[in-house]
Amino acid sequence: MDISKIQEKVSFILSPNRFKHTLGVAQTARELAIKLGADPLKAELAGLLHDIAKEYKAVQLLESARKFCIVISNIDRISPHLLHARVGACIAREQFNIKDSEILSAIAQHTLGKANMSLLEQILFLADAIEPNRPMEWAEPIRLELKERGLTSAIVKSCQITIKEVAEKGFLLHPITVETYNFYLGKLINL
Ligand SMILES: [Fe+2]
Ligand SMILES: [Fe+2]
Repeated sequence: MDISKIQEKVSFILSPNRFKHTLGVAQTARELAIKLGADPLKAELAGLLHDIAKEYKAVQLLESARKFCIVISNIDRISPHLLHARVGACIAREQFNIKDSEILSAIAQHTLGKANMSLLEQILFLADAIEPNRPMEWAEPIRLELKERGLTSAIVKSCQITIKEVAEKGFLLHPITVETYNFYLGKLINL
C-alpha cells in the first residue's frame, strides 16, 4: 500500500481532529528525520499510523491487546488508553501491512517511550508532543528545548511535563515513563 492510500484509509478511521493531529505528527516526524539523519518515509509512515487505535474504547483496547498477546499490566488495566500505542503497532502490521520492525516499534513506544530508544522512536515520541496542532503552552517548552539543546533534552522536558500532569491529576504513573525520564536525564548529566 503506498503512502497516499494509507493516508486515505487513516482518514476514514479517525475523527477529523485526530486525523489533523496525525497529519501534523507525520509532517513533523518527516522534518525531524531529514534534520537528524533518519529515514523520512519511515518517520512519515510511523506518524500516519501512530494513533490508529487511539479512538478504540477501553474494552476494545483490552480485547485487542489480549488478541495480539500484548502483556497487560495493572496500570494498563486501570488506564487502557495507554495500550493504544502497542495495539496500534499490531493494527499497522495486520491492517496496513507494515512489516518494518523499526516503524512498528516507534508506533508501539510513542506514548511511554522507553530507555535507549532508536532514532526513529525518539523522533516519533517528540513529533507527537510538538506537532503544530498541540496546545502552545504544552508544546512550546519542548520545541524550545529541542531547538536550543537537542533531542535528549527535549525528551527529558516532554517526560517532565507528562509526569507532572499525570501526578497532578492523581493518576498512576507508568513505570516506563519514569524509566524513559531517568534514562534520558541520566544521559544529559552523563550518569
Ligand atoms: Fe498516541
Ligand atoms: Fe498522537
